[in-house]
Amino acid sequence: MERKKLIAANWKMNKTAAESKQFADEFKKLAVPEDKEVVICAPFTALPALNESFAKTKIGIGAQNIHFEESGAYTGEVSASMVKELAQFVIIGHSERRQYFGETNETLNKKIKKALEHDLSVIFCIGETLSQREKDETKITVEKQVIEGLKDTTPDQMNSIIIAYEPVWAIGTGKTATPQQAEEVHAFIRSVLEKNHSKKVAEKTRILYGGSMNAENAQSLLLQKNIDGGLIGGASLDPQKFAKICNS
Ligand code: PGA
Repeated sequence: MERKKLIAANWKMNKTAAESKQFADEFKKLAVPEDKEVVICAPFTALPALNESFAKTKIGIGAQNIHFEESGAYTGEVSASMVKELAQFVIIGHSERRQYFGETNETLNKKIKKALEHDLSVIFCIGETLSQREKDETKITVEKQVIEGLKDTTPDQMNSIIIAYEPVWAIGTGKTATPQQAEEVHAFIRSVLEKNHSKKVAEKTRILYGGSMNAENAQSLLLQKNIDGGLIGGASLDPQKFAKICNS
């Protein structure tokens, strides 16, 4: 089954609205191949500028988090319906949110459901820490994240879910997983999807790799059978570098 490659930028807490517009102006001049889908996940405050800048293009826009409630007394939080006015995607469960903001598979499952209710496509992040890998707990960790995070999602809802495998030890460290290491876990994640959902869901779901992906290593990763794209942090902040990855 053909899975269209998806290259997503995760800007994290970088770029003001003005800086985002500057990026967009430059990025639009660089050609991005038709066979790939490109999404930029930016801070909430940059979404209006990006929405305007990329209005007549195929570039998708995403947020990096939402709250799991519809609305209410949650000072400082942003809801799915607020994001939906400005974006089509949302990252859920990035390891930095799990690590620094105490997000658990259980709360992430609620966020995923809320995002789906509002027709947002979800980029659901999973991945093991260094100590988990060293204790040979990679598979058990990602399996638990997939099962608990995607609990009670229907086959139809799974059409709007993209998984990003991001080994925590590879994020922002310059230490990328080798294509073989990544492929092994991606194939395993697909087998978990097959077991817990169906063969069809497993074949259709896109699984991105993230963790120090850059213009140099992107191609060898993207050539792997079960790697359907990338979630790129550091190397996505520069339009030239990000375009290079999109063209890998
Ligand atoms: P990185 O971040 O590319 O800077 O390692 C990836 C991510 O955290 O999504």
